[in-house]
Amino acid sequence: MKYIKSVHRHGSENFLLIVKNDKSLEPTNIIKASTSISGIKSIISECDGINWYNNQSINKIEYNLEKKLDTYYRINIKANSGFFNINPNTDYSKIKKYLDLTINHYIKIWQNYKGNEYSPFHGDLSLVGNVMFNSKDEVLFVDWEQFDLNVEMPTGLDIVITLMENIYYEVTRFKKIKKNVMEHFVNSIDNLNDAKLLSPLIVHNTISSTLNFVNSNLDIWKGQHLKLPALKLSKNIVKEIDNAISKVI
Ligand SMILES: Nc1ncnc2c1ncn2[C@@H]1O[C@H](COP(=O)(O)OP(=O)(O)OP(=O)(O)O)[C@@H](O)[C@H]1O
Ligand SMILES: [Mg+2]
Repeated sequence: MKYIKSVHRHGSENFLLIVKNDKSLEPTNIIKASTSISGIKSIISECDGINWYNNQSINKIEYNLEKKLDTYYRINIKANSGFFNINPNTDYSKIKKYLDLTINHYIKIWQNYKGNEYSPFHGDLSLVGNVMFNSKDEVLFVDWEQFDLNVEMPTGLDIVITLMENIYYEVTRFKKIKKNVMEHFVNSIDNLNDAKLLSPLIVHNTISSTLNFVNSNLDIWKGQHLKLPALKLSKNIVKEIDNAISKVI
């Protein structure tokens, strides 16, 4: 069974086609195609990002660049069997486990960049869509459309954005950051710092510095930055988190 999941969603210039097994309805292939300059650029980034990731990850992503014409690119990605996305409205006590798995996976994948100011950048490590898990608690980072080895972004920025996304969902649901959620957030930043994967460029005022880097490099998202929940956090929340971090780091 095939179905078109999205056409130009969040300002993307790609068609997204999901192929599913007729019986189990498990996705078998993810196909992205584009005829525009920006869409073709995302497909090239996706290939570069997957190649880079496959060099560091135990679980590899298989793909085939099926069409490579000047005006039409199409990539066919084989779905990694058994991996699932999590629901953003899940209780934080469950999300916590998945955030920890994500941070540990980031630390493994980026281990060659420990102590570096800048590192390769995924650009959308959203726990909701682009970080996947399996029953063995293995992690898979998918959707490498923003990847570009020539872009310099501070080490750790990706994972700080992931943590901020989660705060956004918390604040939307409960209108405040609960104590245990804030503690977990600050501990996560501290762990990243201990692992030497938090660039000195974002150690101080981590959240506002992260937002400054994102806002000064919006072209990385090729018009799709509006989908980043991290950019929707209010100034007060940003201040509250930065204050909490400054007490620990
Ligand atoms: N290698 C993979 N193995 C299993 N599932 C995958 C894989 N790659 C992508 N998917 C699934 O397909 C969905 C869409 O893929 P992807 O995120 O790359 O597309 P997208 O166009 O960027 O979509 P979105 O705008 O939702 O991020 C993912 O959220 C994930 O559920
Ligand atoms: Mg995605």
